Amino acid sequence: MWGSPDLPVTVDLTIQKRIIKMKELTAKQNEFVEDLLSRMTLEEKIGQLNQASVSIVGGFDVSFPELIEMNADGRISNEEFQRILSNADRDYHEEEIRKGLVGSMMVSEPHDCNRLQKIAVEESRLGIPLIFGLDVIHGFRSVYPIAIAEAGAFDTDLFARTAAMAARESRTQGVAWHFAPMLDIARDARWGRVSEGPGEDRYLASAFAAAKVHGLQDDHSSTENYVAACMKHYIGYGACESGRDYNTTSIAPHLVYNHYLAPFAAGAKAGAKTVMASFNDLNGVPCTANSWTLRKILKGDLDFEGFVVSDANAIREVIVHGYAEDEKDAGIKSVNAGLDMDMGTEIYLHNLAAAIEEGSVKMEVLDDAVRRILSVKVWLGLFDHPYTEEAAMHRYDVLPAEHLALAEEAAVKSAVLLKNGTDGTPVLPLAKDAKVSLLGTLADDKENIIGAWAMSWREEDCVTIRAGMEEVFPSLQYFKGFGPATAADELDAARKDIDDAVAYGDVIVAALGEPGEMSGEASSRASIIMPGCQRQLLGELMEKSRAAGKKLVLLAMNGRPLDLSWETEHVDAILEGWQLGIRMGSAVAKLLSGDAAPEGRLASTFPACVGQCPIYYSHPNTGRPGSRSKFTSRYLDAPYEPLYPFGYGLTYTQFEYSDASVTEKADSFDVSVKVTNTGSRNAVETVQLYMQDVSASLVRPVRELKGFAKTSPAPGSSETVTISLAKKDMGFYDNEGTYLLEDGKFRFYIGANSRDAALAAEINVKF
Ligand code: NOJ
Repeated sequence: MWGSPDLPVTVDLTIQKRIIKMKELTAKQNEFVEDLLSRMTLEEKIGQLNQASVSIVGGFDVSFPELIEMNADGRISNEEFQRILSNADRDYHEEEIRKGLVGSMMVSEPHDCNRLQKIAVEESRLGIPLIFGLDVIHGFRSVYPIAIAEAGAFDTDLFARTAAMAARESRTQGVAWHFAPMLDIARDARWGRVSEGPGEDRYLASAFAAAKVHGLQDDHSSTENYVAACMKHYIGYGACESGRDYNTTSIAPHLVYNHYLAPFAAGAKAGAKTVMASFNDLNGVPCTANSWTLRKILKGDLDFEGFVVSDANAIREVIVHGYAEDEKDAGIKSVNAGLDMDMGTEIYLHNLAAAIEEGSVKMEVLDDAVRRILSVKVWLGLFDHPYTEEAAMHRYDVLPAEHLALAEEAAVKSAVLLKNGTDGTPVLPLAKDAKVSLLGTLADDKENIIGAWAMSWREEDCVTIRAGMEEVFPSLQYFKGFGPATAADELDAARKDIDDAVAYGDVIVAALGEPGEMSGEASSRASIIMPGCQRQLLGELMEKSRAAGKKLVLLAMNGRPLDLSWETEHVDAILEGWQLGIRMGSAVAKLLSGDAAPEGRLASTFPACVGQCPIYYSHPNTGRPGSRSKFTSRYLDAPYEPLYPFGYGLTYTQFEYSDASVTEKADSFDVSVKVTNTGSRNAVETVQLYMQDVSASLVRPVRELKGFAKTSPAPGSSETVTISLAKKDMGFYDNEGTYLLEDGKFRFYIGANSRDAALAAEINVKF
């Protein structure tokens, strides 16, 4: 049986449907790949599967990824890490490249890329170029909002444009492969990597995936304009038990098919060229060596044509998981399962030749992996354009105005207004001549607006909150106050700043939240309130502002949904600012002053307390849905409902929904609603369509997002919005991965978010 751990020899490639010939390549290009493959030695083939890490030499017998992990898990401090990096000699594996034993590297300095590429192209026997990959997660030099924030813009055009810009900026530095988009459905705010992905919902995540892939890959007007996308982490990584990074995952197959797979399927359909296998074990099998997810679903059902890379060091971790006895065993199980490229362990390099000779890995399996990697290199144009021109390297030395403008646009569209006023009187926007006290260490800081995964940003491109607001509010005064890292001996100074801020401003804007490094990889938290002394000091600030009759606005800056229940009750307004990238300061100033109206929504439910995690809107109903009565699915000491639902976000005007209707067509349903701007300002509303399959052979979510559309009726006017839902998209997958369209009763809801969308119709559907 395919993939059976004790019978790894019986490899059946038919499970992946076909030996790939990449459809986007011309017949001539496919022939070129076949010819090259036929001329490669066994060692050269295995070499293509090897992504070498730049290792540190000079007393440090660890690879770069290992070093990163040691830093991440605290074995070496940040300072020590930086010291090692700046002092250590680096081994760039020149000799291995020369021998054709390296297929890829993680390098981003353009001269290094060119130097190593020259060895590969001019000095190796077959001259096969290297592919340089990097974590370009939310921008390269121009850093955009973290993905969880950007996804909340519900704007596929924006998703694609930021990706396309990142592709251009990185390719001019030699990086032709982004380890992005990150597509993990994530429903647990404790998990630090919630920040890197598009949130909790399959539909929004799928729209995000397709747009990102198109943005990264589609502009072939020059090889300097596109890169290969790498959808990650495949699969289920976001469902790590208890929100602890790298933890085990148990996900029923129908949930894998219906939820976790959806964005990968959308990205594969959009033509994504690579996939990264995730660290977690899924239902007992590490995703690095999982033939069900890789060979059967990805390369079989989805007909994925690109190659799969492991996560860093993950082939070795197959042993640690307890799924392989030693490195050779781990390598055999991984390659047979469909894992094409080894990131960083050299296990393939050192073990696959013997495995091929003894027959535990078939030559067809190796050839299939090599063919996929070569095809992507051909598609990238690396054989014809292996180097970066000197002029291109300097093209973005000074970021052009349109790059900065896009970064600001993305930031403006991603912030979410959670609360505005307590008694129906809005506090925001603020008059530009208002006496504003801006308080908080995060407001005067460039690093923490950037987010966890940004490596190529420069200080000169960044606008801090303080700088952005000083520009717009001439009477603004800044007070350092406090922040996530405020220590006990700084409390007196912080309290003095609180007093001064309250004495000066008519309104106090407190910029508080998490430092950038508190989310991202290896950054799970067991508590999701604002870290450090912030909540306590915010309490003091609140009491003093209230006593003085001053308004208090919270600008939240965080990389995960926080428990803001206390803040929601006690402050006058909350703008969820996430980590919005290099132009966060100017974007926030525009939003707070009303030069722009907030339009971002939550791509992830905000829990009312950490005990609710994991929490998401598209849950099954259960037999006893939570209510006030005792024997229901509820907590004794916490609400059943989240604090803010998926899709939620306010703006500076009000929109009213009326006249919802559903029209059945031959192949679709058109759901319409009238949206009236009943306030006095212009703004954009994101109308959301939800559906419920009321009774099915597997219980379906209480609501599922099925479409969204933007509208912006002028004050006092209305627009009718129609969202069409194709009947073919109303089904679901069973546990075998079969897609079912079952006749029966369906409900359609349309409105402003997953909670408030109102019932438009209940219809008996026959497919
Ligand atoms: C580990 C992370 O899980 C992954 O997201 C990243 O792309 C690789 N390391 C490479 O840096």
